[in-house]
Amino acid sequence: MSATFTARAPGRVNLIGEHTDYNGGWVLPAALSVGIEVTLAPRSDSSVAVSSLNYDAPAMRELSDDAVGEWSDPCVGALREANALGLLTGGAALDVTSSVPEGSGLSSSAALIVAILKAAREAAGSDLSDVDLAIAARRVENEYMGVPCGIMDQMAVALASPGSAMALDTKSLDWEILPLPAGHEMVVVHSGLTRKLTDGRYGARKAECDAAKRHFGTEDLCLLDQAEVESANIDEVPKRRALHCVTEHQRTLAAAKALRDGDVARLGHLMSESHVSMRDLFEMSLPEIDTLVETAQGLGAIGARLTGGGFGGCIVACVPASERGVWMAELLKRHPHARFIDAASAA
Ligand code: GLA
Repeated sequence: MSATFTARAPGRVNLIGEHTDYNGGWVLPAALSVGIEVTLAPRSDSSVAVSSLNYDAPAMRELSDDAVGEWSDPCVGALREANALGLLTGGAALDVTSSVPEGSGLSSSAALIVAILKAAREAAGSDLSDVDLAIAARRVENEYMGVPCGIMDQMAVALASPGSAMALDTKSLDWEILPLPAGHEMVVVHSGLTRKLTDGRYGARKAECDAAKRHFGTEDLCLLDQAEVESANIDEVPKRRALHCVTEHQRTLAAAKALRDGDVARLGHLMSESHVSMRDLFEMSLPEIDTLVETAQGLGAIGARLTGGGFGGCIVACVPASERGVWMAELLKRHPHARFIDAASAA
């Protein structure tokens, strides 16, 4: 039997800082306890044999295959990247175990790719850093799978561990691990509406940001001056997108400070403000999700917002730990399609 190598990567929830990671800004994700584990056995030929109890039928692919829109695409892409990095010389058999629900904005795809790259690093006995692997994992999404995402998910699942948050400057890739608020839980609730980053709406928002970048002559929309954006002679749509980026980046800096200061009220307020900006300026929410967020707040969450790429998926709410049980039960009673996914809290 050939040697096997096992690695795991967690799912992540973003507490605040949405669509800032390809616009030069900060993000504030936290690792979840749900995650993906991969066992990798190198092969001497160029085949990719993938099996999993959680996904569709086992797949037999080739390293030379293009992405075809199937669940095994991230596996083929990650193994191609592992070969390009010199971690493997050929294909592999992969066994995948996942507790991250797909299509919910919790980075199942980034976690799968990063876990495979970590297992390949182990196989090679390489000293490539987690940041190197995160950058490589983003390449798999951007270049192989055609997903126009930023770097947040890959950095979060490669570097963060449950129990804390990661304040990440997506321009410099500097990061700081911050404590989650004591006595509170960051509760992740699925709206019941699924979505894919490849369905075009994420790409459309990115294209609108690109239009704003051309107008302002910068890659870093998040770092523009708010007054300059407000008074710019530019179409309403790219202006609204740029205004979201500028204010969301400022809110994320403020949220990182609130975590450092242990100021949970401020954090919650910023999370709820972020939802308003995503709803009105970035227009990435849906009416059902707005209602779910309002109910979450009305039932006693200190703050609540949509999280992830948008147009479906999960909300995250900051709830006093002692109230979570009652809060959750009442929320699910009023929103029967919603479901509890996970909760992040101080380690
Ligand atoms: C998805 C992408 C990330 C980020 C978020 C929005 O999760 O993969 O890169 O852009 O959407 O903040």
